[in-house]
Amino acid sequence: MAVSGIIFIGYVLVHMYGNLKAFAGHDAFNEYAHHIREIGEPLLPHEGFLWIVRIGLLVSLVVHVVCAFILWRRAAAARPVKYQVKKNVASSLSSRTMRWGGLALLLFVIWHLIHFTVGKVNPAGGATNDPYNLMVDSFETWWMTVIYLLAMVALGLHLHHGTFSALQTLGFTNTTSSRQRARLAGWVLAVVIAGGFSLTPLFILFGVIQ
Ligand code: HEM
Repeated sequence: MAVSGIIFIGYVLVHMYGNLKAFAGHDAFNEYAHHIREIGEPLLPHEGFLWIVRIGLLVSLVVHVVCAFILWRRAAAARPVKYQVKKNVASSLSSRTMRWGGLALLLFVIWHLIHFTVGKVNPAGGATNDPYNLMVDSFETWWMTVIYLLAMVALGLHLHHGTFSALQTLGFTNTTSSRQRARLAGWVLAVVIAGGFSLTPLFILFGVIQ
């Protein structure tokens, strides 16, 4: 779970950084979207690198979901009778929402792929073959921006606890100071990644990027 989670963190970090190209305007963003498909050519075929990334993400997703399911079953078997009274004293919101938040993120990713990659859905009814225009049309539509911002809240919570958990699994939380550093890493990644992703939809909605 930790290793597949770290692969996702690497991907969303790079993807978030790439999305910020929207601030450089139409041509810069589309040039970037085009360039991604040419990485590794002529050694690799067109979109070859992209397909390696896609397959890596798909394998990580299967591993992540199967591990989550095994952990969930193990936790359920360890406490077959539910607590009569359950007080969440020492747990954080992010740790308590890992399961449902993870499921929400999975639904979001399916929607996101239908929206931008597989189906290319333009809520404004405009063109779908221009990545920049598709993105601007989408986030000028307020409810689309709301869906993405809610997903970014779920992503931030998941990253906050997931980063700590991954570092714990890998043995980096054995002392008080290393535990504090792991918690800080969770906060930093959650704010930088979820915050960075949110900038583009927000700036489009408020007309700064158009
Ligand atoms: C506000 C947040 C996000 C925005 C604005 C955004 C935007 C985009 C855009 C515009 C594309 C299409 C790029 C192209 O056509 O070249 C794309 C593709 C994609 N995004 Fe996002 N994204 C966001 C968050 C996420 C998150 C959280 C994930 C989680 C894993 C994700 C995963 C993907 C994947 C897997 C693709 C398909 C890449 C491919 O195989 O072609 N995105 N995104």
